[in-house]
Amino acid sequence: MTDFTPTPDDRFTFGLWTVGWQARDPFGDASRPALDPVESVHRLAERGAYGVTFHDDDLLAVEPDRDKAIAAFRKALDETGMKVPMATTNLFTHPVFKDGAFTSNDRDVRRYALRKVIRNIDLAASLGAKTYVCWGGREGAESDAAKDVKAALDRYKEGLDLLCQYVVEKGYDIRFALEPKPNEPRGDILLPTIGHALALINELEHPEMVGLNPEVGHEQMAGLNFVHGIAQALWHGKLFHIDLNGQHGPKYDQDLIFGHGDLKSAFFLVDLLENGGYDGPRHFDYKPLRTEDPEDVWDSASANMRTYLILKEKSRAFRADPEVQEALRNSRVDELAQPTLAAGETWQHLADDTFDPEVAAARGFHFTRLNQLALEHLMGVRG
Ligand code: GCO
Ligand code: MN
Ligand code: MN
Repeated sequence: MTDFTPTPDDRFTFGLWTVGWQARDPFGDASRPALDPVESVHRLAERGAYGVTFHDDDLLAVEPDRDKAIAAFRKALDETGMKVPMATTNLFTHPVFKDGAFTSNDRDVRRYALRKVIRNIDLAASLGAKTYVCWGGREGAESDAAKDVKAALDRYKEGLDLLCQYVVEKGYDIRFALEPKPNEPRGDILLPTIGHALALINELEHPEMVGLNPEVGHEQMAGLNFVHGIAQALWHGKLFHIDLNGQHGPKYDQDLIFGHGDLKSAFFLVDLLENGGYDGPRHFDYKPLRTEDPEDVWDSASANMRTYLILKEKSRAFRADPEVQEALRNSRVDELAQPTLAAGETWQHLADDTFDPEVAAARGFHFTRLNQLALEHLMGVRG
């Protein structure tokens, strides 16, 4: 029996805002007390996590004095050896951001937002963070009359260009990661999907400094296949970071524990992350259920890591299974890696009078067998 106990080598990280979520929702008050980030660092370290991530404001959960809060946080990091691979900015809670931050119609708000990010980038750099996430939670609108989307994209670009310039001039070793989301809290959010965000990056002054932080639930809210999205982000060399959690299809952002939503997609995601060339942290952005008490929160944190490790083992067993290997060959999955033209060929070499489309059309690909084998590994009856 494999041991599914996480260690820092697994590079699991958690946002302070995840375990620290007090479970306020649009219909009800907090169901848990505020959590001291110092406690979160210690309790996550005890559970085998590698590090934590934070929004500027998360550090002030119980200590309003910024300097004191940062000193206490640094001390907890030193005591536990926990790392801070990523940081981000809260540009959505304060009502000043009600029409967005980088793309607010109010120019003064845009300038304030950029100042707020810059201040936290300095802290992030001093803590050794290499990734700075920009989730545009309030960059959007409820009415198409209210937002000039082309101008908003100009301002989005202007803001990101300015932040890249800042990082270059300061000599920080930091890259930005955009986090797409289709809606919530805005009716419609700009850069709603991985594809939209990738396209914007191409228009920036420093495209090499900007990549993605896709979140499982956000793509699934849009009815999209997260595994395909991650594969494309990897293909573009843009998977800088990832937010792992769970979601049941297109509905509100559930932020469930990883694997507690679409488990089959979670299995193929772990398989891709482990075999597809991603070497960043495995970051959980989930919300402990509102029904849970403060001790349950830590069980929920562990559940994310344990589920990931179980799926990693399932993926290994799936790939090692000789029947799976045979099924992959029968389905000709490997043939897709072969270029369509041979070296030196051009369109002129496509002429081929031996190919019979009727014969090819009659051949099955046997994908059912392959899918069933994956499911049987996942259900624990093989491997
Ligand atoms: C959400 C988002 C956030 C961001 C976080 C980091 O839907 O609430 O996923 O949790 O990931 O603000 O920028
Ligand atoms: Mn989310
Ligand atoms: Mn997220």
